[in-house]
Amino acid sequence: MRLSGKRALVTGGSDGIGLAISEAFLREGAEVLIVGRDTKKLEAARQKLTAAGSVETQSADLSTSSGIDAVVERVKATGPLDILVNNAGVAYLVPFETVTEDQFQQSFALNVSAAFFLTQRLLPQFGAGASVINISSYFANKMIPKRPSSLYSLSKGALNSLTKSLAFELGPRGIRVNAIAPGTVDTAMRRKSIENLPAAAQAELKAYVERSYPLGRIGQTGDLSGIAVYLASDEAAWTSGGIFAIDGGYTAG
Ligand SMILES: NC(=O)c1ccc[n+]([C@@H]2O[C@H](COP(=O)([O-])OP(=O)(O)OC[C@H]3O[C@@H](n4cnc5c(N)ncnc54)[C@H](OP(=O)(O)O)[C@@H]3O)[C@@H](O)[C@H]2O)c1
Repeated sequence: MRLSGKRALVTGGSDGIGLAISEAFLREGAEVLIVGRDTKKLEAARQKLTAAGSVETQSADLSTSSGIDAVVERVKATGPLDILVNNAGVAYLVPFETVTEDQFQQSFALNVSAAFFLTQRLLPQFGAGASVINISSYFANKMIPKRPSSLYSLSKGALNSLTKSLAFELGPRGIRVNAIAPGTVDTAMRRKSIENLPAAAQAELKAYVERSYPLGRIGQTGDLSGIAVYLASDEAAWTSGGIFAIDGGYTAG
């Protein structure tokens, strides 16, 4: 098993991409702590994942400093950490002129500050060869017609910047920092972001995706697991500062 003996923290591990990554880590022998807000979702995830390995859960709102404090204290109490996946995120795909200050603050609190301060506060807990994996998005660099993304793109661009700067700053300590930039993946977040579009707009978006993804489909959550396991493992011992596009070829064009 490729992650035997390693301990991982996956934010947003109770659903979607984070849940699939958590399951893959467990199957490769890691112990995993997953964090989300909703205790029912966490319990459902724990039940689903238990068959795959040793999983623990914690309820915390990572867009708040008290939520970050609680997770840091939990990790401190349980020992060194080898893998941190900053995955929890929020996406307001709303027109630029309608973005509110509240949406702006929430986006930056979760998509940027949580990754920044969780990584910073957990540094003393990182074991040798620790791996930080930030879940970014293609939206940092490439847009979709009629999917207004100024706020979301800005936050994921900031996360990419953080990934590269931390790879430089933390590399001398043996800590690797990478990002995965998924294309569109079929998750609750994606479904929520399209459910209020008129039917015609949903059909137009579907046709656009089918046309634009060279591999002809959007992603499923399991499509991100392989790269996450690789980046978390010692096989990636010389891999840092990368932003890995896993998107069915969408950003190649
Ligand atoms: N789906 C896509 O098409 C896509 C594409 C590119 C990038 N991404 C990125 O991939 C990551 C995961 O997205 P997803 O689609 O898998 O989302 P998802 O299915 O909606 O899952 C989000 C997870 O994050 C948790 N979460 C949300 N807000 C939180 C908070 N304030 N504090 C702690 N946990 C929180 C959720 O649990 P609770 O709700 O219980 O807190 C859940 O476990 C995000 O960073 C997203 O930007 C997604």
